Amino acid sequence: MEESTEGLSTTLWYGSPTWYSSPALFRGDENSWGQELSGTTWQSNHDVMGVETSIGVSGALAMPMSQVDPVGAVPRPVGVDELDRVLQGGLVPGSVTLFAGEPGIGKSTLVLQALLSIARQGRRVLLFSAEESAQQVRARAERLGDQSDELFIMAGANIESLLPAVERVRPEVVAVDSIQTVFHQGSSSLPGSTTQVRDCTVRLIALAKSSGIAVMVVSHVTKDGLIAGPRLLEHLVDTVVMFEGERYHALRMLRTLKHRFGSTGEVGLFEMEECGLRAMPDPSSMLLADRISGFPGGVVTVLLEGTRPLLVEVQALVSPRGDGDSGRLAVQGIDAKRLAMVVAVLESRMGIGFGNTAIFASAVGGVTVKEPAADLALALALVAARLDSPVSPTTVIFGEVGLAGEIRRVPRMPQRLAEAFKLGFREAIVPYPAQEIPSGMKIVKVETISDAVAYVASSSRNCSSSTSRSEASSS
Ligand code: TYD
Ligand code: MG
Repeated sequence: MEESTEGLSTTLWYGSPTWYSSPALFRGDENSWGQELSGTTWQSNHDVMGVETSIGVSGALAMPMSQVDPVGAVPRPVGVDELDRVLQGGLVPGSVTLFAGEPGIGKSTLVLQALLSIARQGRRVLLFSAEESAQQVRARAERLGDQSDELFIMAGANIESLLPAVERVRPEVVAVDSIQTVFHQGSSSLPGSTTQVRDCTVRLIALAKSSGIAVMVVSHVTKDGLIAGPRLLEHLVDTVVMFEGERYHALRMLRTLKHRFGSTGEVGLFEMEECGLRAMPDPSSMLLADRISGFPGGVVTVLLEGTRPLLVEVQALVSPRGDGDSGRLAVQGIDAKRLAMVVAVLESRMGIGFGNTAIFASAVGGVTVKEPAADLALALALVAARLDSPVSPTTVIFGEVGLAGEIRRVPRMPQRLAEAFKLGFREAIVPYPAQEIPSGMKIVKVETISDAVAYVASSSRNCSSSTSRSEASSS
């Protein structure tokens, strides 16, 4: 049965005995999955939600290689720039994207902003909300200052009730919030259990592949374990994006863990504000805004988030420890194993003792440092804290520290230096002279940790120890 709907060239197959009754789905011609949607191909048969028929649409027909469409999946922009950057263009029709993150990080907000943005383009979307009522979703949208009648909201938890709604609404994008709260009646397990989460995901994949709808799935992750979370679903879905940040800081980072339609290198940077998530125009400036210069133990490093350099202050504090005190290292935003390694190198290669002290290290502003490029900054922050001798506030430091005390190169050094220069830093302590050094920037090349410590010790003799707001970050 053919039915043409306003604004969409949509073909519906009502009551067809099997899921694959559309020849278009096999042939890969107009309106089929994998093509950009001018309309959407609809399958109303309820087997779409059945597990048995859920996988294998794209592999249904063997064909000579030359007949395979070389273009493949074409992403459609969401209109939220940082999200489109991470997804390398947007959501691909017929794909399933998992939005994972800790509770409270902002997944529902991000997904709603994405839906509203798509809806504003005149493209219909459907939110299946299993955690919040329709009123709560509307209130959130009002808080975000956005409304659109192309956004349909359905509060419910039974995944089988979604298909009839999809048939009625005919959206281009469906979002499910969250996978831990939806359930499938056929399964006796509780919502959130491994079985339920997997079964429901498989059904959503079937829906996406058979209809060409892009499906967004919210998934909670706990700090320690990834129970019934993205790890369980990673191999099933097309894309996994992880939303990260510290709950009490505004900075939010969006990374791809897996992406079938592009690379996973890009990172989206957002700020959580009163009325939603906003792209950060200049994250380095924001991260350095509250810096106090002259504090012995504060060192600025340049991380690479995706392809973007990000200036972050690494802080260390070394305090005497009583005999009965437990816990020698405490970290915030720094990997404890990395810190332990840097401390061990300083102790064994430099003879700088940290015995009977408690060591605190943190990355400021809610950033989580994952790159070894921050090692050298961390090492010099520790030395500065230990010796109570600050590093110049206009010096930026990066490099990986090896176990022999050698300083190793890190990727994209010119970009890191350029960003530091832009923010007012005029000296850099780095592993190797970069090819393109900003004119007006002094480069101090260090080969070992001893070189670096010796340089900082000699230059800090001329440095005032008064504490004041940094000038480097405000230029
Ligand atoms: P939410 O998107 O509900 O997180 P998740 O779905 O990952 O659990 O957002 C969590 C927090 O964000 C919540 O504590 C309130 C805050 N928030 C803002 O600060 N500004 C806003 O505009 C919105 C909608 C939420
Ligand atoms: Mg939520």
